[in-house]
Amino acid sequence: MDRTVVLITGCSSGIGLHLALRLASDPSRSFKVYATLRDLSTQGPLWEAAQSRGCPPGSLETLQLDVQDADSVAAARARVTEGRVDVLVCNAGRGLLGPLEVHSGDAVGSVLDVNVVGTVRMLQAFLPDMKRRRSGRILVTGSMGGLMGMPFNAVYCASKFAIEGLCESLAILLLPFGIHVSLIECGPVHTAFQKKVQTGPRVALDDLDAQTCDLFSRYQRHFERIFRKEAQDPEEVTEPRPACLHPLLQVFLTALRDSRPALRYFCSERILPLARLRLADPSGCSYIAAMHRSVFGDEPAEGPEGAQTRARTGELGDPELGTSPSAPQ
Ligand SMILES: NC(=O)c1ccc[n+]([C@@H]2O[C@H](COP(=O)([O-])OP(=O)(O)OC[C@H]3O[C@@H](n4cnc5c(N)ncnc54)[C@H](OP(=O)(O)O)[C@@H]3O)[C@@H](O)[C@H]2O)c1
Repeated sequence: MDRTVVLITGCSSGIGLHLALRLASDPSRSFKVYATLRDLSTQGPLWEAAQSRGCPPGSLETLQLDVQDADSVAAARARVTEGRVDVLVCNAGRGLLGPLEVHSGDAVGSVLDVNVVGTVRMLQAFLPDMKRRRSGRILVTGSMGGLMGMPFNAVYCASKFAIEGLCESLAILLLPFGIHVSLIECGPVHTAFQKKVQTGPRVALDDLDAQTCDLFSRYQRHFERIFRKEAQDPEEVTEPRPACLHPLLQVFLTALRDSRPALRYFCSERILPLARLRLADPSGCSYIAAMHRSVFGDEPAEGPEGAQTRARTGELGDPELGTSPSAPQ
């Protein structure tokens, strides 16, 4: 029987690396995994882990693929010896943290280029063949930052919101082609992601107003607390796990195997109360006030419309958030 050919972006670390290993070492031996990396010199940890996991020969191959470079995407596609990709996993992503006004144009452009345009480049490269074959699955690593705005993550959230619109729009179109698009909505996960965000261009706060600086410090403390308490391990080796957290890689596998794939799969049910709150009050007032209070621990300062806002969101008293909202990734 033909193996399922899976191509994953962003496999130097984190979710991409662990997903590649999980599929390549699946006891069914039914997957051929192309783990792609922006820079092949970073493939050491993947191969070391593949060896210790006992991935069978021929189950895993690495390819250079930079989602910012259409030529590199095309070259990787040409090196898939099976001549087809059954499952495309658009996982590569980058974060950007800090007050909006301190981000350089380059930093903003690069996050949008990797997270949004990079995903578009992948889809443009692989969709035509899936359409011809009238079959295929596309899994995209989504984030709670794509479902709700978060302070100090405006550009990252903008990129992940864009991904939501992109996937939802395509999912509608692709129904008659037998191609399924699914977003795997992750909460906080222990990966190299945070380190890469934090070791990125230093946030220059010198010219920033004191109130924004204070709010940023408070956000960072909140974020560290949430991450310590609630972040998942990609591999989920630690048990017991809170019932509201679904093993991350298992969620990818469920999406990959579902006979009627959904558009969204959630790795953490802790995202859901806030997502529902957003939908329940389309004006946005309830969500904004709840998130502000949760992150900064106080009532939002009231502008002239403050009283009116509260009147409109009478039910806000204490929206049941299930838990404190986490930082988006
Ligand atoms: N960690 C979380 O808490 C979390 C939560 C929700 C969603 N996510 C999403 O999960 C995905 C994977 O992130 P992660 O947490 O596993 O972090 P990670 O360990 O930093 O992995 C990100 C991967 O994307 C790659 N990448 C960046 N720019 C690229 C480019 N131009 N072309 C190809 N690959 C590129 C990175 O490669 P390099 O090492 O070469 O830079 C790395 O392999 C991202 O889309 C992220 O937004 C993460």
